[in-house]
Amino acid sequence: MNPLTHSFRNQRTAGLLSTAFRFLLAFAVLVLLLALAAPAQAQDAATFFKQNCSSCHTIGAGRLAGPDLKNVHTRRDRAWLKQFVPNPRAMIDRGDPYVLKLLQSANGVVMPPPQGLTESRLNEILDFIEAESKAGRIWGGGGLSDRPYTAADFVLGRALFSGEKPLAKGGPACISCHTVGTLGSFGGGRLAPAPQYDLTRVYERLGGRKALGSWLSAPPTPTMNAIFKQHPIEPTEAFALLSVVEDAAASSGEADAVPLLNFFLIGLGGAVAGLVIFGTVWRGRFRSVRRALVRGELQRGSASLTTGGER
Ligand code: HEC
Ligand code: HEC
Repeated sequence: MNPLTHSFRNQRTAGLLSTAFRFLLAFAVLVLLLALAAPAQAQDAATFFKQNCSSCHTIGAGRLAGPDLKNVHTRRDRAWLKQFVPNPRAMIDRGDPYVLKLLQSANGVVMPPPQGLTESRLNEILDFIEAESKAGRIWGGGGLSDRPYTAADFVLGRALFSGEKPLAKGGPACISCHTVGTLGSFGGGRLAPAPQYDLTRVYERLGGRKALGSWLSAPPTPTMNAIFKQHPIEPTEAFALLSVVEDAAASSGEADAVPLLNFFLIGLGGAVAGLVIFGTVWRGRFRSVRRALVRGELQRGSASLTTGGER
């Protein structure tokens, strides 16, 4: 081999190496940039809606924390919506009577300004809501099926509720904080304040299968959200759990005949009792649930950490 080619080779190898290194570096930077930019970029309007609006709004499946957005384009014109959505608080401060009414029916919940909402994204999302309303497609309802519940759903639902079968994404069993029907009434949790700890009548409170389905897919209340944001309840699980709720409501049948006032008084008594229980039990309970959550994380992270762990 002639020396000229040899040194040429060496140079070329060095050149290739540094090219490879630069390529790697560029690749790493690119990955980082993509990771940062992805939430804002690679989303279409539907994904954006699901991730940023659907915990509080459905299109056509009833109100959640916020109003059903179906046909909102017929209630307010585009210019108004484009002013409101990016900065809901400003419209309230201005005393816009329509918004004050919305605020009232939302029990004072103020819509937070959406993150990552550019002018073009805002147009896209409003176009999307309008198009889906016109097409009569339903968004929200947690992707729950309309089919009737089966015995299998019910068995699964009870197992999930009681923690016999763990939730797929590692959320804590409902029974640590709730009861439903007779499930959990002996030793069931009381963490959620009454009447929210008893889910037997939650269909009435939150408005049926669809509404409750999306509610569970991204719970908008503080404790539930904190718990299930990182450990979402899957649609099949929500479906099974709701079969238990619906069954409990049906078999506590006479409740349908209970006059509203009674219901209110029972609720009020329950609330007072619940507050007392809540106050005394909250700290310990919450810690133990937190501990369970943290332990779950650790177990996922490294199984060895939990061996011989405290109980
Ligand atoms: C944390 C809950 C929450 C989230 C998330 C949320 N909203 Fe809202 N939204 C509300 C509430 C509550 C109202 C009623 C006004 C108020 O009380 O502030 C409202 C009102 C609206 C209205 C007016 C509805 C009507 O009937 O006139 C529109 C439009 C709207 N939101 C769009 C959106 C869009 C688009 C997103 C996602 C980018 C979104 N909202 C995210 C809670 C939310
Ligand atoms: C660590 C305690 C805890 C666990 C576990 C828990 N919840 Fe909750 N839940 C709460 C609290 C507290 C509330 C009251 C609202 C809030 O602060 O989030 C609540 C509220 C609710 C509500 C609304 C009730 C109403 O009337 O407004 C529903 C529905 C619900 N939970 C369902 C479930 C289901 C289903 C599970 C199991 C998959 C579950 N929860 C697990 C604590 C818990």
